Amino acid sequence: MKHLISMADLTHDEIIELLDMAEDLKEKRMRGKVTDLLKNKSLGMIFEKSSTRTRVSFEVAMCDLGGHALYLNAKDMQLGRGETISDTSEVLSRYLYGIIARVYSHDTVKQLAENSSIPVINALSDHEHPCQILADLLTIREYKNNFKDLKYAWVGDGNNVCNSAILGCALVDMEILVACPPGYEPDADIVEQARALGGKVTITNDPKEAVANADILYADVWVSMGDEDEREKRLTDLAPYQINSELVELAKPDVIVMHCLPAHRGEEISAEVMDGPHSVVFDQAENRMHAQKALLLKLMA
Ligand code: CP
Ligand code: NVA
Repeated sequence: MKHLISMADLTHDEIIELLDMAEDLKEKRMRGKVTDLLKNKSLGMIFEKSSTRTRVSFEVAMCDLGGHALYLNAKDMQLGRGETISDTSEVLSRYLYGIIARVYSHDTVKQLAENSSIPVINALSDHEHPCQILADLLTIREYKNNFKDLKYAWVGDGNNVCNSAILGCALVDMEILVACPPGYEPDADIVEQARALGGKVTITNDPKEAVANADILYADVWVSMGDEDEREKRLTDLAPYQINSELVELAKPDVIVMHCLPAHRGEEISAEVMDGPHSVVFDQAENRMHAQKALLLKLMA
């Protein structure tokens, strides 16, 4: 594996290996044990969009591993003045040991990878968010021990995070049900790809059907970065898809409620559920750092 552009760039065994590494790195950090496995190595972090978790978790991960991270706002780069993605990628490959990129168009991160001689990691595009799902699998394994016989219910917009979740579930052999309004379905090619991997994927318009007896409920924002022009329509269309106490009641009693964050209480998730006993959202956020450390080591060490 050279790049991580799509969740499907990972195999089942690579995911398990990364989760095992992440668990070990997490435990070491808690004991205050430092490692310098990426000493003197620099990671470039290109951002076209805002970020709290991704930026900070990658930067701290690099620091903890003895390396260095450079935050590169795409607007401040020559990219913003018309330098090509391929030239940018060739040049950065001469300085750095790895690149992460958060972009509007999935094609941008693909082009970066195609023209790079160093690993490129998708730090969120309009199509996928593999780093999020890798960390989420770590969180699920912490709470449920393994993935066998679990039912994962996604409720809301079939967006970038949903696409990666569908592929991630297929790769670890976990059933996924997606409940979304008509017109908000996840990408058909992703669903097809997941099914070809042996994934059990159900798409429905009925949140109650998806959530019944679920082990995991997952929410994400209704208005993703780049969708701001559709805000009003999205809030109306997605209103019946809020994860609230009524839906949680239909799931298993030990259901965990997940959200990649940032959250909008009162929209995709009620405050009561977000801040309630089933919520594991801050563990997920923490696990971004541990999972990404494993990924950086695998790709850059
Ligand atoms: N979940 C996530 O990627 O958060 P940020 O947008 O804050 O990076
Ligand atoms: N779907 C959201 C995820 C944010 C981490 C977005 O793309 O804005």
